[in-house]
Amino acid sequence: MESDIHNFHKITIEDRRKIIEKFSDLNEEDIKLMDNYVDKNSFDMIENVYTLMSFPVGIATNFKVNGRDYLIPMSIEEPSVIAACSNGARYARILGGFYAYSTESIMRGEMEIYDIPDIQLAIIKIMTEKNKIIEMANTRSKTLSDLNAGAIDIEIKIINDEIILNLIINVKDAMGANVINTMLEYISPYIEEITNSKTNLRIMSNLTTERITYAYAKFDKNAIGENIVDRIIMANNFAKNDIYRATTHNKGIMNGIDAVLLATLNDFRAEEANAHAYASINGYKPLTEYKKDNNGNLIGSIKIPVAVGTVGGSTKTSRKAQLNMKILGIKNSNEFANILACVGLAQNFAALRALANEGIQKGHMKLHARNIAISAGAKDDAVDKIVNIMLGENNISYSRALELLKGDKNGEL
Ligand code: MEV
Repeated sequence: MESDIHNFHKITIEDRRKIIEKFSDLNEEDIKLMDNYVDKNSFDMIENVYTLMSFPVGIATNFKVNGRDYLIPMSIEEPSVIAACSNGARYARILGGFYAYSTESIMRGEMEIYDIPDIQLAIIKIMTEKNKIIEMANTRSKTLSDLNAGAIDIEIKIINDEIILNLIINVKDAMGANVINTMLEYISPYIEEITNSKTNLRIMSNLTTERITYAYAKFDKNAIGENIVDRIIMANNFAKNDIYRATTHNKGIMNGIDAVLLATLNDFRAEEANAHAYASINGYKPLTEYKKDNNGNLIGSIKIPVAVGTVGGSTKTSRKAQLNMKILGIKNSNEFANILACVGLAQNFAALRALANEGIQKGHMKLHARNIAISAGAKDDAVDKIVNIMLGENNISYSRALELLKGDKNGEL
């Protein structure tokens, strides 16, 4: 089944569920979860819980990545993001969809070594014992060792009178935080012993310069309009040269990525930190790039560090997050990273296309008007009535929605 489902936004929630059920081959239990299921496991996930928040989860349609169709669950409070991603993917589809590639899952953990009697000697001791230290670290993860992965190298930096030891680890399909921190804490007494020093912080780095995803799509110039192709490239150059614009540009990319991470209960703050730090390595820059091919079509690409896992993590504690992973239908962390980068690119392309064209407010205000009408207390048919009137009057405000709602109750609409 293909993911370019027409009018998905216009059909009922029940009909959407039926399509998802068929697309992702869901079973009875999965289907029950789609309803207002309360995930009791979530009560034990964090401290001092007293209630659960419910975030809406929508589906981004039209995605084709490396030749395969995907429906992508996204959870976000902001209207327009899922529409933008679906729209970007619809344009990408015309010339074959997205192509993406992720490197191996190489991460680094950092250990701060201080109170060092002799820095040069300490470095020699660490590097002489490198293989033993790596072996020791690898005793902490049988799974990674069995996969011929785990700790693979040590790098050393000197900051003032401290040594920063970086343990380089291939974490395969894990996000990596737990295994990295466990390895660092395990080897630190030995490091202290051989260097006759003390260790302070032992923690993974959320900047993953060796765990990178590249995604690409070609957008048909006839579908988007040749002048818009030029204006998107212009907009990207603007972001390259203006940090205020680059921040908003990258925020849009993260709108898409975070929403998928939230729907699958992954650590979106880690990805935020990672992406923005990476964007700033040579002065803060946009994470996407646009240029024309020889035929004048627009080539969009993104290069972004993505550290996500498909094993371990919180996903397993939440049945709904598991359901969303099932709908996504990915097999490993590389495939997951590919999807995330494509969602980011789709969002960015759609935002730039709209901004370089009619602007985003028209589409956005329509959705915003719905939210305003609902927050004013409108229900069922009254929502559409109030939205249409507010849009027609170009007056979208809470007070107007309240007025109209009063009118509706009195039978005036
Ligand atoms: C809004 O959340 C995101 C955008 O501002 C992104 C952008 O300007 O590229 C629309």
